[in-house]
Amino acid sequence: MTTPVRKRILVGVGGGIAAYKACSVIRHYTEAGHDVRVIPTAAALEFVGAATFEALSGHPVSTTVFDNVDEVAHVRLGQEADLVVVAPATADLLARAASGRADDLLTASLLTARCPVLFAPAMHTEMWEHPATRDNVATLRRRGVVVMPPDSGRLTGRDSGAGRLPDPTEIGLLGDLLLDDPEALPFDLSGARIVISAGGTREPLDPVRYLGNHSSGKQGFALARVAAARGADVTVVAGSTSGAGNPAGIELVSIASATELSDEMNKRALEADVIIMAAAVADFRPVVVADAKIKKGTAGPAPIELETNPDILAGLVAARGRGEIPASTVIVGFAAETGDDNGGVLDHGRAKFSRKGCDLLVVNPVGSGKAFGTEDNTGWLLSSAGTETALPLTSKTLLASRILDALAPLLDRS
Ligand code: CTP
Repeated sequence: MTTPVRKRILVGVGGGIAAYKACSVIRHYTEAGHDVRVIPTAAALEFVGAATFEALSGHPVSTTVFDNVDEVAHVRLGQEADLVVVAPATADLLARAASGRADDLLTASLLTARCPVLFAPAMHTEMWEHPATRDNVATLRRRGVVVMPPDSGRLTGRDSGAGRLPDPTEIGLLGDLLLDDPEALPFDLSGARIVISAGGTREPLDPVRYLGNHSSGKQGFALARVAAARGADVTVVAGSTSGAGNPAGIELVSIASATELSDEMNKRALEADVIIMAAAVADFRPVVVADAKIKKGTAGPAPIELETNPDILAGLVAARGRGEIPASTVIVGFAAETGDDNGGVLDHGRAKFSRKGCDLLVVNPVGSGKAFGTEDNTGWLLSSAGTETALPLTSKTLLASRILDALAPLLDRS
């Protein structure tokens, strides 16, 4: 959900090969109607010309405090900003920011800014993993700066590993979250291993067809996006998704059917501190999966015989009860409800919560354009402590942050 109010966004651009991707970050904010000022470093202008940043933002750009001295830009730009996003944040820029340097317009503006600050790092793996960079990132996070985990994959040369700039859309979404709630990304999940199922399962009928559902995976991926930015070690086990995004710094495992999801979740549960079942799991699957395409024939449609899939969430809770997974594992479920003659959405959610036995249950109204595939979501959060918290309609990313707020105190930190 875009923030309706026009905000002032500072986009700082470091000198790395990924500087060209800052253009997409700038576009993300200008298209939402925000006033964007771009401050490149001198090195960034070796990669992308000032004219590009000026055209995209509609404002002149400068790298130094000695331009437009009468406007005292190095103080004003930072003071007036509602959000600062630095992308790409190079090792050098992280070091200068961590040590409080003010040797160019960008670092000076970082010192005068009092709004949320989001760094999106990009560098070679060795530089990201170097103790000097680790210390600088830790210093910035201790001061409340949000430093995204970098993506993994192909880097500039022949190498690949952690250090790719996160997807610009992901940078934009986390910035939007900080505009909606400056406190939404505390670094409070460091070291927590979170396994999230997301998307819909597909139950095959033949090599061509399947039984599926409308889940887009957006809420599960939003949880992954926010949990990773809050420091968690995140694995997403994903079925079919649509437009769910590409959260940086997570492990992504693909599955298709409920049986595959069950196997994957049961295996990963052994090593998890938190399990979140956000996937829309088919309750039934065809008994027979044809080896060859089922032909139409002349006799009309043949009935499809179904059998029941395992209830993965209830099975994980039972496994915890039997001591097969650690008692400290926090288990979160979702309830997608339409309400019917037997009760409303919340009534069905409450009944499901007592059936499933998990620690938290997120109850979402679905159907008639609600929840499936949308950018926003609403509902209730039920906890085993007996609390019922209404979740007002908001972006799936902000809703994810609210769910993680409720989850963080349940983590065993011993
Ligand atoms: N779930 C699961 N295994 C299943 C079905 C659902 O683990 N075979 C999980 C979902 O991931 C979700 C929760 O159980 O966290 C509730 O899913 P939902 O589809 O809302 O409910 P069902 O258990 O399928 O019950 P019903 O279809 O009767 O509403």
